[in-house]
Amino acid sequence: MTCLDRDDGITRSLQKQKVPFHEPGLQEIVDRGVRDGRLSFAGAGGLDGVVGSADVVFVAVGTPQGEDGSADLSNVADVARQIGRALAGEASRERPLVVVNKSTVPVGGGDYVSALIEEGAGGQGIARFEVVSNPEFLREGSAVHDTLFPDRIVVGADSRGPLEAMRALYEPIIDQTFPTGLDPRPRDAVPFVRTDLASAEMIKYAANAFLAAKISLINEISTLCELTGADVVRVANGIGLDGRIGSRFLNAGLGWGGSCFPKDVSALRAAAREYGQETPLLDATVAVNEAQHKRAIGKLRHHLPDPRGKRVALLGLSFKPNTDDLRGAPSLRIARSLRSLGATVIGYDPVAGKGAAALLHGGSKVVFDPYEALEGAHAAVLVTEWEVLRGLDPNRVATLMRDPRLIVDGRNVLDPASWREAGLRYAGFGRG
Ligand code: UGA
Repeated sequence: MTCLDRDDGITRSLQKQKVPFHEPGLQEIVDRGVRDGRLSFAGAGGLDGVVGSADVVFVAVGTPQGEDGSADLSNVADVARQIGRALAGEASRERPLVVVNKSTVPVGGGDYVSALIEEGAGGQGIARFEVVSNPEFLREGSAVHDTLFPDRIVVGADSRGPLEAMRALYEPIIDQTFPTGLDPRPRDAVPFVRTDLASAEMIKYAANAFLAAKISLINEISTLCELTGADVVRVANGIGLDGRIGSRFLNAGLGWGGSCFPKDVSALRAAAREYGQETPLLDATVAVNEAQHKRAIGKLRHHLPDPRGKRVALLGLSFKPNTDDLRGAPSLRIARSLRSLGATVIGYDPVAGKGAAALLHGGSKVVFDPYEALEGAHAAVLVTEWEVLRGLDPNRVATLMRDPRLIVDGRNVLDPASWREAGLRYAGFGRG
């Protein structure tokens, strides 16, 4: 397998066998692939040669949110045209090239890619190719696990041949026959879902929209828990055991961020607008999520009405644990709000600290020890539930902080009783 990126910095780093971002377990896989001679990296200039010798090409470029909320397909379009140019020279092939769209594109994206490949060939004869959709469901921070042990593999195409080629490619994962050190394996076999192109593209958006809505639902319930004296952690446990609901993605708190849910929910709403269709549920999903941030600031101001000149620690800066990704991170937004209220913000993160320091300007500082962040702080917000933060010692924290010694637990991961016993004020989300 040869991997290409137009960013030479990324390619150079990978050629030196250095994964340029934090993803548990990925470095080991890259090391093994290179050592066994099965994995190599090439600069964007090598695309023609790579396409020429490939049976399958995966397009896995970003589709960020455009200004009008829709998916910006310019990266996908660039790659598709380049593939077309590479195929133009090749009039014959034994089997058609399978072009796999891994990038998240709205329904119709696959047809768009086909048209651009043809366009890229500039009217010359072109080798046969087929575009399939193979949506990605891995989560950052557990990408390796989610790739090797997925809940399902979805492949959409409008003809049978490429579906069979993809089934063969994924066989070691479907049958779980690849070697692992894990015994027993978490899965016996992985469902391989064959579908048409449009349905595969919609499955991706529907999955992310469902998960975002699920989180917003439990967040709305958490507000009602606060008003009624119920505890949302117990409520989530009580409903999650119902097989129809499921216990995952029911953690109330600061809500969803990152580079996927926000842009995909936005792109789905934008696609609906094009059809003149309203999306009340998706609109509410976003509105509830936005409100979570305001709720966090409200909790702070309840105990610290005038934050001017006060020190607030932000614990965890990446958008979720086990990644250094700061895109759409709730921490950045909370830091901005706190600064506009005149507070001094001290951030801590075990891996995203350096990146965050470059993004958090004036009035904010990043330190590399959680207790240092808490020293002299009037309040703290636990934004990202890193393991090291779940394990903070409340008694030690109590000696370091200043009144009102407030902890806003933005992910409901601390034990309220032990933090209160240590003399701190504890405010979770929906915890009675
Ligand atoms: C998400 C999906 O979970 C993946 O299936 C999908 O492949 C990916 O987007 C994508 O489209 O590429 P990811 O954004 O990496 O993955 O991370 P998640 O674990 O889904 O978390 C997203 C956000 O939801 C985070 O901010 C997290 O803190 C928040 N979250 C998650 C909650 O607030 N509560 C929960 O119960 C779960």
